Amino acid sequence: MDSIRVTGGTPLHGEIPIAGAKNACLTLMPATLLTDSPLTLTNTPRLSDIRTMSVLLQSLGAEVTGLQDGRVLALSSHAITSQRADYDIVRKMRASILVLGPLLARWGRAEVSLPGGCAIGARPVDLHQMAMERLGAELELREGYLHASAPAGLRGAVIDFPIVSVGATENALMAATLARGTTEIRNAAREPEIVDLARCLRAMGARIGGEGTSTITVEGVDQLHGATHPVVTDRIELGTYMLAPVITGGEVECIGGRLDLIAAFAEKLDAAGVTVTETPTGLKVSHHSGRVRAVDVVTEPFPGFPTDLQAQMMALMCTAEGESVLEERIFENRFMHAPELMRMGARIDVHGGTARVTGVERLRGAPVMATDLRASVSLILAGLAAEGETLVSRVYHLDRGYERVEEKLRACGAQIERISGT
Ligand code: EPZ
Repeated sequence: MDSIRVTGGTPLHGEIPIAGAKNACLTLMPATLLTDSPLTLTNTPRLSDIRTMSVLLQSLGAEVTGLQDGRVLALSSHAITSQRADYDIVRKMRASILVLGPLLARWGRAEVSLPGGCAIGARPVDLHQMAMERLGAELELREGYLHASAPAGLRGAVIDFPIVSVGATENALMAATLARGTTEIRNAAREPEIVDLARCLRAMGARIGGEGTSTITVEGVDQLHGATHPVVTDRIELGTYMLAPVITGGEVECIGGRLDLIAAFAEKLDAAGVTVTETPTGLKVSHHSGRVRAVDVVTEPFPGFPTDLQAQMMALMCTAEGESVLEERIFENRFMHAPELMRMGARIDVHGGTARVTGVERLRGAPVMATDLRASVSLILAGLAAEGETLVSRVYHLDRGYERVEEKLRACGAQIERISGT
């Protein structure tokens, strides 16, 4: 397992290119199952999760070809041979559940292994099940697999989600495109990745309205055709790299960054005393006035503060002036970065879903362990600011969601290198 060694204390200056969104790509790729025509995705990120989704789709008989060094994916489902998503693939990546809706919509059946929990929570799929049942499918859990069938096809319905779920909204949206009649998805997730999926599906011939609001309406059609679709910018990668010049001091332009994707996050940076400027090519973040002001954070569904940026914000708050309270309202166990940050001298008091952080003058480098994707990058950020050397182990978590993180940061002056493990 690889590790990453960071020697802190260097202000960062330069440019960081922001890639296409992992969480958009992971729902756009299964959309190929909705048509037998080719679907081409451009601006795709080169991440291990994308490779895992490719393997899953290929196990169903789909063709997935990486072009232009992985920046373009050509997908085709004209020769699907199976509707069974095996546990050995699904257990590696929860987003595998996103083949459920498309398989049901196009073939009337699906066998999808339950993903199982992950470090940040139990991650149930009951809302995915509820949505498919509302569309007329029958689902039964047998030996760890969801067996779904809709022999008479799916029919439009009102799907009223009791809580906001990104993945369940995506499954419902994809399935509804081929259902007979009209579907109304209420309390829908409003994330930019949902909007991006709707845009791609519409380019494929789907009839969708209201994406980005809490109510999405879909008029089912008989079939969809192919399309070419650019994956939206990754707002989580963007937010993460915006914090690098803040926690180290310096100035970095995030190429491709868009303020509308991270408005709630940018508001918190503004409150903390950080200058964010829109440029013709992205977002420039500069900070030269020492420690930021402590701010409080509550994670919420979009357009609220994103849970996927909570760990990174906590790393910044560890070096802030004052006390900040971070409340994690989306996942039940998403503070595993806290004990690792405390090894670096951070002062954090965790009780349930609330972490109280008292900023310190300087963190000190230490050996730490990545536990999940976003926790791992928060440790890198802390290492950039810390005195001395930080060694982050188990960085395979990092490679799931961040493309060449050490190269992008080194290009801005960071003292960071990857150490290949056994
Ligand atoms: C997506 O996960 C993202 N993953 C997550 O990013 C992100 O943290 C999350 O949305 C919230 O924004 C992808 O898009 C691949 P949810 P998802 O369904 O869809 C509960 C990352 O770091 N819930 O919106 O799984 C669930 O337990 C990852 O890139 C149910 O109870 O999230 C959670 O508490 C981590 N039943 C809440 O809803 C269900 O059937 C929100 O989950 C589904 C979810």
